[in-house]
Amino acid sequence: MEYDFLALGSGIAGLTFALNAAPHGSVAILTKKQRSESNTNYAQGGIAAALGADDSWELHLHDTLTAGAGLCARDAVEVLVREGPRLVHWLIEQGAQFDRNPDGSLALGKEGGHSRNRIVHAADHTGYEIERTLLIAARKTPNISILEHYQALDLLLEGGVCVGVRVLDTLTGDLFDIRARAVLLATGGCGQVYLHTSNPLIATGDGIAMAWRAGATIANMEFIQFHPTTLYHTDAPSFLISEAVRGEGGILKRRDGYRFMPDYDPRAELAPRDIVARAIDAELKKTGDPCVYLDITHLDPDFIKRRFPTIYQTCLQYGIDITREPIPVVPAAHYTCGGVWTDLDGRTTIPRLYACGEVAYTGVHGANRLASNSLLEALVFSERAARHATTRLDEPPPQPKPSCLTVRLTPPAPAAHKDDRAENWDAMRLSIRQTMQRQVGIVRTVARLHDAHRTLQAAAAQIETAYRQSPPTVESCEARNLAACALLITASALARHESRGLHYVLDYPQPREELAACPTLLMPL
Ligand code: FAD
Ligand code: SIN
Repeated sequence: MEYDFLALGSGIAGLTFALNAAPHGSVAILTKKQRSESNTNYAQGGIAAALGADDSWELHLHDTLTAGAGLCARDAVEVLVREGPRLVHWLIEQGAQFDRNPDGSLALGKEGGHSRNRIVHAADHTGYEIERTLLIAARKTPNISILEHYQALDLLLEGGVCVGVRVLDTLTGDLFDIRARAVLLATGGCGQVYLHTSNPLIATGDGIAMAWRAGATIANMEFIQFHPTTLYHTDAPSFLISEAVRGEGGILKRRDGYRFMPDYDPRAELAPRDIVARAIDAELKKTGDPCVYLDITHLDPDFIKRRFPTIYQTCLQYGIDITREPIPVVPAAHYTCGGVWTDLDGRTTIPRLYACGEVAYTGVHGANRLASNSLLEALVFSERAARHATTRLDEPPPQPKPSCLTVRLTPPAPAAHKDDRAENWDAMRLSIRQTMQRQVGIVRTVARLHDAHRTLQAAAAQIETAYRQSPPTVESCEARNLAACALLITASALARHESRGLHYVLDYPQPREELAACPTLLMPL
């Protein structure tokens, strides 16, 4: 198979790229499950854009830089906040229906770290609305083919240039190559590397791992965002309780009813996510309780059902009526702030390979992503990547500015001695996720990071041996990619000798001035 443009992933980044590239040539979107299955589809709160009368791109810039704790790339944030409003209007032109006020203007919600109401939303299922809209637009575009149940395994390089991808047909087990003039990684993040995550099963970091194996530069992987509030229920997966619930007045309480957030930050429940997640973690450790509670029972029940229909119905399924009782919540891994290093046009360090959306590091999020900035980042930078790939594809690839935090490491080599247990892919996957949850979570220590690194290196080598000895399967590929991402996160965390934003290490509890503006760059040896 051969196309002009190949997008790996059918979330907001892959679809936006495809729609913008399609006027210039044939486009294939490869996706490993059915087309709508993506993190995008589950996004709840909304998409941030400075559209209110009291708002400006400068204020959105300021809030993003503040949340990012000194580590955002200012030029990337400026692109994000200046181009964002136009692209939200583009989504509306494609057919997205967002909530509106009685006068017809967009209803703008509030979330943590935002100084203005600027969250464009469709009730609490904004991602579903965006995914639905973009898939319909793609279906109507003759130049776009969507190839479902095809899992990208590895990038094909010729003379150092990306020319396509090796693919597994997950229904038949067949292997084949797809070639393209330009390839976009839009495979999303790696939330599944943790035991408790808000992310669906597809989020196994495949794009990050593939890019690393191909020799691309990866950045800032230590910055994993834990969402403060996912549903705590023994029978439920970590279902997200949107930050918009706190934006509408939700209050966090302990089991004894005490409101603890004002003890941690003057912005209380609307402090940036790293602060709220750490506060909950500290309260859980102090009290020994398994969860805290998010209370919105003081709000009008009809408003709750209208504004949060998905959350209301899902909690009800688990026997919790959120209009009458507080919601038991715990933090869970939610968003990968780092990823494949790119410039402002989504270009990676490998010629003809682009990366956009959660798989990418653009510098926008720094040490902590501001709520609802990720859908926006995917939208803005995938449009820019499409523009570049369709007009300036042959320019030499960019290189990141040197950083004082540069780590040189190679992808895992096979183990010297094979352990047959490595072929139990589910067990390997579980052990990686448990290690990450216990030792590379919200609060880290150097000793636990070293211990995790040793365990993960051994696991990754065993997985590599077993992977090379049998035909690839979905399970073996994902275990291999999770192991790679776990190692990248842990190696980056070990390299950063400070606490900043989402990376909190008890041994170094303060930020270090000299590391401000130093992203962690992971480069091949
Ligand atoms: P995704 O939407 O994750 O799409 C990745 C695609 O790649 C999928 O189609 C997947 O199947 C495919 N894929 C992966 N690996 C392979 C492979 N090897 N081969 C082929 N295909 C592959 N952000 C906000 O800004 N606002 C919100 O309100 C918000 N709410 C969220 C709520 C939840 C529950 C979650 C999980 C995330 C939320 N986020 C939110 C984050 C946001 O949804 C994601 O960052 C964003 O949707 C990522 O888009 P993407 O296109 O980069 O990746
Ligand atoms: C949420 O609705 O809380 C998720 C928002 C986000 O991740 O940006």
